Order: sequence, then structure tokens, then C-alpha cells
Amino acid sequence: MTDRPLPEHAAENARYWDGMADQWVASGERNWASTEPTWGSWGAPDHEVGLLPDDMTGMRAIELGCGTGYVSAWMARRGAEVVGIDVSAEQLATARRLRDEHGLDIDLRQESAEAVSEPDAGFDFAVSEYGAAIWCDPHVWIPEAARLLKPGGRLHFLGNHPLAMVCTPLDGSPVDATLHRDWRGMQRFDWRHVAVDPGGVEFNLGIAAWMRLFRDAGFVVEDHLELHAADPSDDRFAVPGWWAHRFPAEQVWKLRRVPESS
Ligand SMILES: C[S@@+](CC[C@H](N)C(=O)[O-])C[C@H]1O[C@@H](n2cnc3c(N)ncnc32)[C@H](O)[C@@H]1O
Repeated sequence: MTDRPLPEHAAENARYWDGMADQWVASGERNWASTEPTWGSWGAPDHEVGLLPDDMTGMRAIELGCGTGYVSAWMARRGAEVVGIDVSAEQLATARRLRDEHGLDIDLRQESAEAVSEPDAGFDFAVSEYGAAIWCDPHVWIPEAARLLKPGGRLHFLGNHPLAMVCTPLDGSPVDATLHRDWRGMQRFDWRHVAVDPGGVEFNLGIAAWMRLFRDAGFVVEDHLELHAADPSDDRFAVPGWWAHRFPAEQVWKLRRVPESS
């Protein structure tokens, strides 16, 4: 971690993730053992989501908010030279143990995805699955990802769909079919004082706000996917299966860094 103090939300998220890292060990071990990636809360197959290039030989890749590090492992197995960063020391402890057990060469570092200690334009590919994608301020981490990428490099990320955020009750209860929050001005979701599963500060934006942010940061959008639960009885975390079957629970953005001259 650099000497710079973390912003308040990042310090809270480090504390929150340190405190529950033990609950993520088993899923981390399963995902490290799997050679075929699946994505998001409902395990969408890789051929539907395509979050990673099939062949990453010779690429430099960075995972922003790597948690237990299995996405970094999948990239390393596809041939990339990988840096995984996370703000939680406890999540990184699991990631480092699994890296060593699986014998992969991945550079795992305790840093915030909002301020990465890497020079400009050093990476071909950046990815986040529920890491920076939801836990970092998008107005900070999206420009930071753009800075890290070479011109033409790609950023792919997966997180909650903003509709799921708007349909989350104010006390943190599971998502339902009521619009509980404003779409307009959506940005920060502070879960520290809710009744249900308190802790952490999340971020999300409406679709137009995401689009404007990408453009301003120098990205073009190559694809935007909305993910659903295949089985309406399959409840995951705070999103009931019936809801995710009918409405988009998750989104994937695929962006390309525009060369300076274009
Ligand atoms: C859900 S995990 C993501 C890893 C994995 N793909 C998954 O879905 O389990 C979320 C991770 O984001 C990390 N995180 C939160 N804020 C962060 C920040 N500012 N910089 C880097 N990582 C952060 C947390 O420490 C946590 O390990």
C-alpha cells in the first residue's frame, strides 16, 4: 500500500472486506480449481459473457479489486503477465496462498484501484468482477483504469445493474419490485447504518452517467450486457432469483481505450 491515506470509503471497504474474508475462502478455492471461468452471482458461462480474451499470450493484465484472485489466475493460465490489486490484506492473504498452491506467477499487491502505483499506459487489459466495479468511486477508478491502459487497451468489468440498486429497500433488505431510490443522481450507497448486513460503501451510476464518464475518460463502449438468473428459484445474496429472472441484476461493460489522436 502507498503511504497516501485512503479516502474514507476505501478505508471502510478495506475494514469491511478484512472482516468477512474468511467467508470467501471456499468460493475462492472452488474458482481457483476451475479452468473454465463463470461470471457473476449466477455463474454465467464464459461463452455468454466473454469477459476475458481467449488468448492472452504476451499481454500485461491487471485485476482491479482481485479479492481471492481467481480471475487473475484465469488470466495467467491464458498466458498473461498479471498484476492483481486489492485493498484488503485478508483477501490478499487467501489470494497469495492459492497462488502459491497453484504455482502461478501473479504479482499480488495491497493497493487501492483508485490510485495504482504503476506508470501510465503499461497494460493491455484491465478487468474487475465485483471489485473496483462496485466498491470504488467510478469518477476516480475509471479515469485511473484509462491511465493504466495502453491506447487500444481494454477494460472489461461486471457488477450490479443500477436497476437492482434502485430496487433495494433503504434498510438493505433484498431487492424487490418497488423503486425505492432515485435513478437521477445515483452514485453512492453507504451500507454502514442499514439494518440488514451493515457495512461497506458501494457505487453505481445510471446508464447515461456511465456512458458520459466513459467518453470523458477516453473510452469507447464495445458492448454492454445485462445478466439474468436462468432459474427464478435461485436466490443469490440480496437479489432473489425471481427478480433477476425478470429484471437485469448484473451488467457487464466492455470498453476500449481510444488512442490519443482519434
Ligand atoms: C467481491 S470481491 C471481488 C473479487 C471476486 N471477483 C469476487 O467476485 O469475489 C470485492 C473485492 O474488492 C476489494 N476492494 C474494495 N475496495 C477496493 C479498492 N478501493 N481497491 C481495490 N480493491 C478494493 C475488496 O477488498 C474485495 O476483496
